[in-house]
Amino acid sequence: MHIIVAASQKGGAGKTTLVRSLAVATQRTFGATAILDTDPQGSLTSWWNRREAQEPVLVKFDVSEFEAGASKLEAAGIEFLFVDTPPSVHPEMAVLLGHADLVIVPVRPSPDDLDAVGDTLALVETAGCPFVFVLTQAKPRTRLQMQAVLALAKHGKVAPTVIHDRTDFPTAAIAGRTVTEAETETTSAREVTEVLEYVIAQLRKGARKETEV
Ligand SMILES: Nc1ncnc2c1ncn2[C@@H]1O[C@H](COP(=O)(O)OP(=O)(O)OP(=O)(O)O)[C@@H](O)[C@H]1O
Ligand SMILES: [Mg+2]
Repeated sequence: MHIIVAASQKGGAGKTTLVRSLAVATQRTFGATAILDTDPQGSLTSWWNRREAQEPVLVKFDVSEFEAGASKLEAAGIEFLFVDTPPSVHPEMAVLLGHADLVIVPVRPSPDDLDAVGDTLALVETAGCPFVFVLTQAKPRTRLQMQAVLALAKHGKVAPTVIHDRTDFPTAAIAGRTVTEAETETTSAREVTEVLEYVIAQLRKGARKETEV
């Protein structure tokens, strides 16, 4: 089972939106997917409770019992687990990152958000887990976007597709859905699909390295 954790110490960076969007797309294209909400705010859980479809399945266990919880999911045939996390630093975060096959760090292209990336980076680097940045909520056609890519690329890999700021993200969430579940294919859905393809490619690279060791 692949474990993907969204982490960003900056509030509102796009963790929850990215987790649910990627999880729904993964379930559709790549296999049985579960989501775990470790944020006391419970946004991911509230979204899932508004949802009609049962997949991806919402699972519940304490981070302190992560290993046991993950083993059960694996035994039940879950292939991908996406984990949403709170923006605050909490002691269990290090434990969680220690289990991650890939950490996704969403960042809004703004000077304030870029300034705050250092805190998340420190956490991820201490855990020593592979990570990628994903630019989210970018306003179309702004220079900020390119500046953000250049700034982030100094610290790690940046997903080549940027998720733009569009109302279809919160609109889809009203009914517990995501942008890839719209009737017609939208640009937002295409962006999510491309980011997911990048994430899967990163997971495959990681898996290859492990077998090489
Ligand atoms: N691509 C997008 N386009 C438009 N709105 C978005 C997009 N991504 C996220 N949002 C909105 O921005 C807000 C913050 O996003 P989200 O809740 O995903 O961030 P978060 O990192 O999980 O926040 P927190 O740190 O509070 O948990 C939400 O209202 C969400 O609907
Ligand atoms: Mg959140």
